[in-house]
Amino acid sequence: MTFAEEPRSLAEYETDYETITATQRLPYLVAVDTSSSAVVGYSNAHLFHTRAAYRFTVEISLFCDPTCTGRGLGSRLLESLLDALRDPAAHPELAPPGARDDVKNVIALMAVDPNGKGDGLALKAFYERFGFVQVSSEVAFTSLSFPCRPSLSRATRCLY
Ligand SMILES: CC(C)(COP(=O)(O)OP(=O)(O)OC[C@H]1O[C@@H](n2cnc3c(N)ncnc32)[C@H](O)[C@@H]1OP(=O)(O)O)[C@@H](O)C(=O)NCCC(=O)NCCS
Repeated sequence: MTFAEEPRSLAEYETDYETITATQRLPYLVAVDTSSSAVVGYSNAHLFHTRAAYRFTVEISLFCDPTCTGRGLGSRLLESLLDALRDPAAHPELAPPGARDDVKNVIALMAVDPNGKGDGLALKAFYERFGFVQVSSEVAFTSLSFPCRPSLSRATRCLY
């Protein structure tokens, strides 16, 4: 979730891509329609917080072109992102060179639209299919957490 209220420029996306893959050494996947070469979706994991104590926790962004939803693209982008986070060495096609292999907790923050599918909670069910569990909830937002490396997930979860 980016919570951007205005369309972001190509330059902003390019800067994000560089920061995430080169500086943070985390995965940024882009789905391209091979027939039109159009970008139809992306997923990335970025630092949840810049403070050093949060370095083992990342937050994800996941978006699909609205004309391409409901066909498994979002699932594939999320599954591939989690594969790259869990074991970057086994997935060099998904992870950037020198990717970090010490991420312990993955956060997905979602907005709850009471008028949306399943009273806004269909997206929560989508994340739960991949092993995410709800760790906090406010009126309009729900946080879900995926224990990338189980040994420290309980400690990380105490933050919320
Ligand atoms: C969420 C999203 C990535 C799913 O992509 P997708 O390609 O449609 O997903 P898949 O085809 O793999 O899976 C479809 C499932 O996702 C759920 N889903 C898809 N879009 C949803 C939405 N906007 N709200 C709630 N659930 C949604 C559906 O319930 C569906 O489940 P079903 O098969 O039981 O009906 C896509 O709808 C999207 O980009 N949405 C806007 C951005 C967003 O909400 N991103 C998540 C930020 S936390």
